Amino acid sequence: MDKNSVYRTNIIGAGEVGVAISADMDKNSIHKTNSIFWDTKGNEVLGATALPLYGAFVSEEKCQLFGDISGKKMLEIGCGSGQSLQYVGEHKASELWGTDISEKQIEKTKQLLTSCGLSATLICSPMEEECGIPEDYFDFVYSIYAIGWTTDLEGTFRRIASYLKKDGVFIFSWSHPIHKCVVAENDMLAFKKSYFDESWYSVSLDEGTLTLSDRKLSTYVNALSKAGFVIEQMIEQSDDEMMQSRDDNDDFAKKAKMLPVTFVIKARKL
Ligand SMILES: C[S@@+](CC[C@H](N)C(=O)[O-])C[C@H]1O[C@@H](n2cnc3c(N)ncnc32)[C@H](O)[C@@H]1O
Repeated sequence: MDKNSVYRTNIIGAGEVGVAISADMDKNSIHKTNSIFWDTKGNEVLGATALPLYGAFVSEEKCQLFGDISGKKMLEIGCGSGQSLQYVGEHKASELWGTDISEKQIEKTKQLLTSCGLSATLICSPMEEECGIPEDYFDFVYSIYAIGWTTDLEGTFRRIASYLKKDGVFIFSWSHPIHKCVVAENDMLAFKKSYFDESWYSVSLDEGTLTLSDRKLSTYVNALSKAGFVIEQMIEQSDDEMMQSRDDNDDFAKKAKMLPVTFVIKARKL
């Protein structure tokens, strides 16, 4: 198959994105493309990317990965429109911090939290870069469908480890890489892409463009280990009740019955 026309499956649960164009791994141009998307489109396009949801069919209400967060200092990486910060704020976290590459998303977070009577320290920056976040400070760092956008996974995990106190917890969710390889076709699931292919590509979504790469699970696991984390729990299971509440003809729900569409990892800084 032509390298420039590899079929890619949907990003989360949004419409199929179709043809992918291979892209250079050039950090600046990836940041530029993706910031324009998040500045103009936003997270509603993807859906299910804020707590209590970790993504489609996985919920914190069922998984209880955070436990009691009252009095805890929390940092969200890629805070988007701020709903997850609202969720942890309403669960009595003592300090809220959020970062995002998009000025527009930071503005949305500010407005949402203000309307809920919550306050947070918000920083507009790519997660790969130094941006004044304190070190050895946070009880929890978390990220809901944002980590995968990094152009430097190992460097980003090292930074996240530096923000956490010893024994601090890092929780993140992202599209399961197997979901990105398989498409629903005539009541069958078909492999359309190699699981091993981590090359960067651009796709069109809702008249915008996003650039990303589908990393293997082992890439995430090994990068966590290199950054000094130990994995305590991993979720791959789709929630039965959430799947049943979807329409029977929904291809995405059918797919989720057969394979994980989201993964969540809870890791602890050693
Ligand atoms: C799918 S959204 C999820 C955000 C959030 N969980 C929500 O639902 O509002 C991904 C977010 O990551 C941000 N993002 C993308 N690339 C980033 C990067 N390199 N550094 C920091 N944030 C980034 C985007 O601006 C976007 O707000």
